[in-house]
Amino acid sequence: MDIIEALSQRRTIHQFLPDPVPEQVLREMIDLAVFVPNHHLTQPWQFVVVQGDSLEHMASFREQAVLAKNREKPQAEAIARKAKLDVLAVPASIVAIQNLDPNPFRAEEDYAAVTMAVYNMTLVAHARHLGTYWHTGPLVYFEPFRAWLDLNPQQRIIAYLFVGYPARTPHPERIAGNERTRWLS
Ligand SMILES: Cc1cc2nc3c(=O)[nH]c(=O)nc-3n(C[C@H](O)[C@H](O)[C@H](O)COP(=O)(O)O)c2cc1C
Repeated sequence: MDIIEALSQRRTIHQFLPDPVPEQVLREMIDLAVFVPNHHLTQPWQFVVVQGDSLEHMASFREQAVLAKNREKPQAEAIARKAKLDVLAVPASIVAIQNLDPNPFRAEEDYAAVTMAVYNMTLVAHARHLGTYWHTGPLVYFEPFRAWLDLNPQQRIIAYLFVGYPARTPHPERIAGNERTRWLS
């Protein structure tokens, strides 16, 4: 697939088919994730692929995290239950983790690199006709989930990507880049 086509056609996918994701594509996503610009070549990333029975654990952690965040709301349990079921409705998730540098400037630049790595994964998935859904939210800070992933305090979850075949591809509008651009000459 042409890179220009991938950049313009990739969209966040909200609904997935139940079909399994080929392991080869998950490996390709991760292999190509790391070819991003990265100041000082710190390579600050780690990835965890969650699929199969492990999704049950991740779904349960997400339910608990979302319940805790929304506990004041009367519909908290329904929101949390949906958050759980959403995880189970997707064949695989990839968690992207940043190894935190003690130098805050380097940590900030490393964060930029990890987000690019996540974006690379979304583009590779798209090129292989898969869809992705980039998530942050309460699960990424939820200690039991972090402990389950065996993370240490110097590691931060940057995102988890749902990965699966799209059931539907949305077409969100964008303000043209040129409307946000000044050309100086
Ligand atoms: C850093 C980052 C965090 C995001 N976190 C979430 C999230 O927690 N929940 C969500 O629904 N979408 C999340 N998204 C996805 C955006 O909502 C999505 O990319 C945006 O709607 C634009 O749609 P597109 O990907 O189809 O271009 C996140 C995206 C980024 C870059």
